[in-house]
Amino acid sequence: MHRKGVYRLEPRDVHVWSLRVDLSSAMVERLARLLSADEVSRAGRFVASADRGRFATVRGLLRVILSGYIGRPPEEVALETGRGGKPRLADRDGPHFNVSYSRGRGLVAVSARSEVGIDIEQVRDVGNFDILAEVCFSPVERHALAAVPAQERDSAFFSGWTRKEAFLKLQGVGLLKRLDSFDVALMPGEPARLLRLHGVSDAPARFFLRALEPAAGYIGALAVEGPSSRVKWRRWQLVSAQFEDHTVSRLRTASRGPQLSAKRAS
Ligand SMILES: CC(C)(COP(=O)(O)OP(=O)(O)OC[C@H]1O[C@@H](n2cnc3c(N)ncnc32)[C@H](O)[C@@H]1OP(=O)(O)O)[C@@H](O)C(=O)NCCC(=O)NCCS
Repeated sequence: MHRKGVYRLEPRDVHVWSLRVDLSSAMVERLARLLSADEVSRAGRFVASADRGRFATVRGLLRVILSGYIGRPPEEVALETGRGGKPRLADRDGPHFNVSYSRGRGLVAVSARSEVGIDIEQVRDVGNFDILAEVCFSPVERHALAAVPAQERDSAFFSGWTRKEAFLKLQGVGLLKRLDSFDVALMPGEPARLLRLHGVSDAPARFFLRALEPAAGYIGALAVEGPSSRVKWRRWQLVSAQFEDHTVSRLRTASRGPQLSAKRAS
């Protein structure tokens, strides 16, 4: 159980935060001030200013969220790179987390005791569908996708994509290089689940997948190690005037963590 900050995580809990990451430039600047020297240097390597801003926004918001669990100011949240390049808290007693963003929206998963992976994608026209399916999906998944009615194919595609990506991100990506080494359920109406992992016969019972609907036009997926997790959806209501004017500066000195309104939608 994590009780150091203002957000409480019971042992089985996984919190999923839904965020807007297309914030005002004033807000981006404030969030950028929370970044570590390494993060500032990484942001500086992006050629496009939009990418710099997006990186600073997502990292800044991540720091604000994590500060609420560990009870440290956002700029003092110590992050490091873990297995397969996956970011994690340097304090090994802290919660597990994972982040994803796509075109103005982001998701952050925070888990008390299990590794997590999360992914979000805006549903869009993917161009050459068959070539992309060939690259991303296993033969079983391609077969399932081919049976989906044309009007539901984009959403089935992104359901499969986000489930695979979330599972890869749970593992730290690098450890599971082959996208055809596992199958996920992706048919419309079919519950998200892992169907097979090469060489691990009990994997479907060990890993839990959940479909997420973060916003209209977006699809997400969460992967958790361990089947008995309790997922709580947290929507970050940016009370913009208050947030823009005061919150980040208060956060920079506060030790209790974020003063943002986090509403549980379910
Ligand atoms: C690293 C990778 C997971 C990022 O995925 P993405 O879809 O481009 O981006 P997302 O928004 O979902 O996730 C990015 C965040 O994931 C986290 N992340 C980075 N490396 C990670 C890793 N090895 N494992 C888990 N999470 C990782 C970081 O917080 C990162 O945010 P940052 O760039 O601001 O530091 C991705 O580049 C990758 O290697 N994917 C391989 C799988 C693949 O080819 N999938 C195709 C579709 S099935």
